[in-house]
Amino acid sequence: MSTELPDSYGPPPEGPAPAPSRRTFIATTTAVGGAVMAGGLVAGASPSAAEEASAADAPPAGRVALTVNGERRIAVIDNRTSLLDLLREQFGLPGTKKGCNAGACGARTVLVDGRRVNSCLTLAVRLDGAEVTTVEGLADDDRLHPLQQAFVDQDAFQCGFCTPGQIMSGVGCIEEGHTGSADEIREWMSGNICRCGCYVKIVRAVEQTARGK
Ligand code: FES
Ligand code: FES
Repeated sequence: MSTELPDSYGPPPEGPAPAPSRRTFIATTTAVGGAVMAGGLVAGASPSAAEEASAADAPPAGRVALTVNGERRIAVIDNRTSLLDLLREQFGLPGTKKGCNAGACGARTVLVDGRRVNSCLTLAVRLDGAEVTTVEGLADDDRLHPLQQAFVDQDAFQCGFCTPGQIMSGVGCIEEGHTGSADEIREWMSGNICRCGCYVKIVRAVEQTARGK
């Protein structure tokens, strides 16, 4: 017997092609059908449909105009943006701190139209036309706001993280007239947490400012 290998598998057999087996028929039609289906999907997606899909994916945007610390500010924002994020990330005002971001610590307190507000829980887009005051807007050039000065006088902070929120809340508390006693101040400042435990001195600072008013 010869052990020589052929150069190729040889010429194709002559005569009519053999009928496809069931297996080759299914394999062929599946491949062609898949290509047709894929082609149909691509060809069927008109540009307007693609644009509609991408528009549906885009976050809803809105325009908001605010007066922040006396300055008119306008922004186009994702409607889900909190006032806190707008102030910190778009308006470059990082004085208002993000603590829990859930309305529990008070680090985010700002004044909106003179009232204390949880900026982390407030949608900025709802405040069109409002006046917002943050801790950056309290001082008069180099002259501290009386409550800022009182915090210094009373040594009412340690790490300082809660301090902007405490001061804004204290300003609101004084304006609201809830300063008749230390207990009343404690009650009306109870939404502001201080991890360093400076509560006694914070209350003294609010008292000092309220007395000097
Ligand atoms: S950051 Fe909003 S209450 Fe804590
Ligand atoms: S001074 Fe540190 S959390 Fe209040």
